[in-house]
Amino acid sequence: MTAGKRPGHLRLGVNIDHVATVRNARGGDYPDPVRAALLAEKAGADGITAHLREDRRHISDRDIDRLSRELKLPLNLEMAATEEMQAIALTHRPHAVCLVPERREERTTEGGLDVAGDEARLAEFIAPLAAHGARVSLFVAPDEEQIRAAAQTGAAVVELHTGTYADAHNEGRFDESDAELERLRDAARLADSLGLEVHAGHGLTYDNVGPIAAIPEVVELNIGHFLIGEAIFRGLAEAIAHMRALMDAARGDGAAAGR
Ligand code: PXP
Repeated sequence: MTAGKRPGHLRLGVNIDHVATVRNARGGDYPDPVRAALLAEKAGADGITAHLREDRRHISDRDIDRLSRELKLPLNLEMAATEEMQAIALTHRPHAVCLVPERREERTTEGGLDVAGDEARLAEFIAPLAAHGARVSLFVAPDEEQIRAAAQTGAAVVELHTGTYADAHNEGRFDESDAELERLRDAARLADSLGLEVHAGHGLTYDNVGPIAAIPEVVELNIGHFLIGEAIFRGLAEAIAHMRALMDAARGDGAAAGR
């Protein structure tokens, strides 16, 4: 942790991919992820994240076009580091671009980006995006080598992959989730010391979000699947508000936690 650093407001980015997953199950227009994004905006989200995958399995090009025009909140476009995606990002100019690894056969983004050894290519990829005003982040495992490499690419941000921590926690393997939490804390401290803004996400739920939200260097969490699932039971606005309250409580903001 930077000496004297105090945890401030922790932003919540709501990932709306899985609204599009449900829509695409029937091939029509319902439910509309842009409507979900606008609702999330009212419910206290600080940003909206959408992953335009190469295979367009959930979010579509039209969704990105509409989100770019209709949202007031910052849009974080998640994408693979390909020429096609770079051209789309340069056209729509989202507030942020998060580069993730992508494999067609994976169910979700399974690991972090392999930045180490690929710094020069990534730096070249990032430069035009940054020049057009995007805050570029790299989705990485909490690994020293990857974070040191990320700092060489011109990226402004790293998003730490919390999937290993979340899986271990969800399955009651608490020795493992504690060890992974330590790695996340160390990674956040290192990234911050190298001048990178620190985000975190993947697999976060009401049960496991607290310790991640409490890491003082982390300034943004991106949460999707759980919130969209929980929306089935309590509605999207309430699902988001409860996550917000848990994040604030973990951050030591008692007043906000009580709302
Ligand atoms: N952050 C990144 C970079 C991701 O790829 C994802 C999944 O799309 C998330 C956050 C959100 O993960 P989840 O849907 O498990 O909350």
